[in-house]
Amino acid sequence: MRVPDLIAKKRDGHSLTEEEISFLIDNYTKGIIPDYQMSAWAMAVYFRGMDNRETRALTQAMIQSGETIDLSPIKGTIVDKHSTGGVGDTTTIVLAPLVAAAGVPVAKMSGRGLGHTGGTIDKLETIPGMRLDLATGKFIEQVNRIGICIVGQTGNLVPADKKLYALRDVTGTVESLPLIAASIMSKKLAAGAHAILLDVKTGSGAFMKTPEEALALAKVMVDIGQGLGHPTAALITDMDQPLGYAIGNALEVKEAIKTLQGKGPDDLTELCLTIGAHLLVLAKKTTNEEEAYQELKGLLHSGEAIDKLAQLIEAQGGNPQVVEDFDLLPKAPVLLPVVSDREGYVDKIDCYQVGHTAMLLGAGRATKEDRIDPAVGIQLCKKVGDYVNKGDVLAYIHAAQHEQGIRAKQAVLEAYRLSDHQPTKPPLVHSVLRG
Ligand code: URA
Ligand code: CA
Repeated sequence: MRVPDLIAKKRDGHSLTEEEISFLIDNYTKGIIPDYQMSAWAMAVYFRGMDNRETRALTQAMIQSGETIDLSPIKGTIVDKHSTGGVGDTTTIVLAPLVAAAGVPVAKMSGRGLGHTGGTIDKLETIPGMRLDLATGKFIEQVNRIGICIVGQTGNLVPADKKLYALRDVTGTVESLPLIAASIMSKKLAAGAHAILLDVKTGSGAFMKTPEEALALAKVMVDIGQGLGHPTAALITDMDQPLGYAIGNALEVKEAIKTLQGKGPDDLTELCLTIGAHLLVLAKKTTNEEEAYQELKGLLHSGEAIDKLAQLIEAQGGNPQVVEDFDLLPKAPVLLPVVSDREGYVDKIDCYQVGHTAMLLGAGRATKEDRIDPAVGIQLCKKVGDYVNKGDVLAYIHAAQHEQGIRAKQAVLEAYRLSDHQPTKPPLVHSVLRG
């Protein structure tokens, strides 16, 4: 096989065989195929696309490029949730203990935040003492013992994706549905998930700006999962404004704790119950989503869900008192209100701008090497549809330094758009795709 022939074949709109795709991925990972050939190939894929068979083959070749985790020593079906990334998206910290409390094993590998979106590992690390770097043996042992474990990505999972994603990032080839879908699904499957629930975000704070684009990506990913023998479903959910009220690591942990105590924001609670219900069905715990939803709601109010989080924190070296005492979490020294200079209904909150501002405060990373500040972030007070008087506080900025806080204050004020007319609230779940 010659690489120039494979590039030309894709350029001219033909499908590559499984052998050809695995040849490209394998030799690229080994450093035999140079970046310039692989970027030409990625650009050909960007313009010509891939059919479902090719996309599945690409996913499989990427999984095979590195280590995989075998979760078969865990009793029960391992379901995993993947979110395509959002602003203030605290769902994993709520969902993991919630479904574990319902008896579904949670063996979760999570990532760190990049750009305007946050990551679960950064958030959990704000809890004093919490260890997120357990070895695979301990990870599995803990899931079998208490039904839940959350760790950062370890080992050499999908090295092909690390190389290819970095290449796509600098060659204008990130925005290709088959490349995105194979990138996400290969990482989930290499991490050992049996069944997968995808939360594909859409809106100003999301990767996919419209529900149509999000649905198209969801379809490709569901097809990959199902085609490789893993039950997969997807929800298309709103990210046109931040989820909940808190954006920033410690602030979001607080919000997750309140949600697990049944006192969380409506949108975050509703989304967690909806995703949780789908996870229970995928895990074959129940056949009925409505029943599952009610069962999970009961666990938020009975105290079982928050107890499971406290148990998780304790098992991983953290201080479980944090669920009752928020003073144990880091606090930013500067607190500034964002005050509305007019009255009206909140019509829109530019979600990207809010996420980007939180990142500039230090809640996120502009590059992979940046260090985050666990304490800083933005606490919203008003969301889309709320009425605001002149002088009302729209949000609070939690900053490390005064000048940074002032800049963030201005940026958040600009992110709010007020209107004289009450807007219709965007739906939280745009659509559901079952495998
Ligand atoms: N997220 C991923 O993990 N991969 C992509 O290609 C795009 C978004
Ligand atoms: Ca939030």
